[in-house]
Amino acid sequence: MSETPQPADLIVFGGTGDLSMRKLLPALYHADRDGLLSPETRIIAMSRGGLADADFRGKVDAEVRDSVPVDDPGVWRRFLDRLHHVTIDIGGQDPTGWARLTGMLAGHEQRDRVFYLASPPMTFGPFCREVNRAGLVTPASRVVLEKPLGRDLASAQHINDEVGAIFHERQIYRIDHYLGKETVQNLLVLRFANAFLEPIWNSLWIDHVQITVAETVGTPGRRGYYDHAGALRDMVQNHLLQLLCLVAMEPPSRNDRESIRDEKVKVLEALRPITGSEVDRFTVRGQYTAGESGGAKVPGYLDEPDNTAPTEASRQVETFAAIRAEVKNWRWAGVPFYLRTGKRMPYRCSEIVVQFKDVPHSIFPGSAPNRLVLRLQPSEGIQLHIMAKEPGAGEVTLKPVPLGLSFAETFAGRVPDAYERLLLDVLAGNPTLFMRRDEVEAAWRWIDPIRSEWDAQTMPPEPYAAGTPGPAGALDLVARSGRSWHEENPA
Ligand code: BG6
Repeated sequence: MSETPQPADLIVFGGTGDLSMRKLLPALYHADRDGLLSPETRIIAMSRGGLADADFRGKVDAEVRDSVPVDDPGVWRRFLDRLHHVTIDIGGQDPTGWARLTGMLAGHEQRDRVFYLASPPMTFGPFCREVNRAGLVTPASRVVLEKPLGRDLASAQHINDEVGAIFHERQIYRIDHYLGKETVQNLLVLRFANAFLEPIWNSLWIDHVQITVAETVGTPGRRGYYDHAGALRDMVQNHLLQLLCLVAMEPPSRNDRESIRDEKVKVLEALRPITGSEVDRFTVRGQYTAGESGGAKVPGYLDEPDNTAPTEASRQVETFAAIRAEVKNWRWAGVPFYLRTGKRMPYRCSEIVVQFKDVPHSIFPGSAPNRLVLRLQPSEGIQLHIMAKEPGAGEVTLKPVPLGLSFAETFAGRVPDAYERLLLDVLAGNPTLFMRRDEVEAAWRWIDPIRSEWDAQTMPPEPYAAGTPGPAGALDLVARSGRSWHEENPA
């Protein structure tokens, strides 16, 4: 970024919570360290915590410092000095917090002002109303909404209406941190800055696409949230569908805020609905039971340590989801898009695998179709698996070998975290990598019938032992058409 950073006020509601401490503050520190924040930029955390500025700075010093590289204590001190805390009680009777915030912001109306809502979605509307009542919404204000945006289409529309009553759509930034990941942006460059892929990026050449986000972590301490989210709402509705959009979208005419989002919406609208009895055929839900992860024994979902006991919702919620999706348009007709995500998988891996069709006529035994693997994490990179001859005389023996690009090896320097990239985009007023209202709603429209069918089922999700690649049904989902999941531990 070559322009001089402009002074801004970043107000984080839920500013002492998990997301803020684990992601937002480290990302802002990195940006500060790289000189990407104006010296005058302030970070104001709002919470019910009753902390003075000094307490909050002490908390960040104790909880965040060890997770970021502090090579110059002066820079860390400068970062801490930007931090403030305002105690707020949304919907409460005590106006002191709002008065304090108003005092802090007075005289800075020309600055970029960002309200980051790192709080549950039902607080978005009330927060926006109170900010408006306090007279704090300026033309230079923006609001960032964390996912998940609602629980279904109706609640998402309600939240969008509430927020939209105070902020103009161009001021609303709906975040999906997957869009800030380096490889995800590279997918756009790979597709639209190279000529060789476009002629074969269609159903004539591509057999199917797999999108996998596998995590080794479980959900300890998250029952309150996770029981009512599940993998479908937590991961598929947003992260996986966004990745699908970037693979399937048509080339936009420009790299600007609307062109890319226009093309993504068209993909979501072209997704073939999965309804009624088809839900059983084309989707799989699973829940992990006790098993092993990273060489240690781990409990099943229902026995995860938590301060609330498992309920019927816990027994029914899925920690694994797999779906066979289809994009109904000329480019993709007949090409399955297999989506899969799960907690407590054998290894951590987020990737998009584009599997090409096999050669029309093979003259060598043992040939296998080409695969393009875009790895988001860990070890970001792109690999094209091609067939090569194993060296040696006699019979020709084929072997798939990867032509690879590893970002870490090819590009020196730190790869910024997705949140850092996205926060800087908000400060710069660039919404390209954020979701527009119609995108979020189109995604819910496709998810809702699957969710309601799953909710109507009395059988619990299919069990899978922690540390295994999901339930048997997920293998069957792809095996039925003679395919298999791409399984390669990237570690
Ligand atoms: C979040 C989900 O959006 O993404 C979490 O709520 C999940 O459940 C996380 O663990 C995964 O993000 P990443 O960047 O670690 O792949």
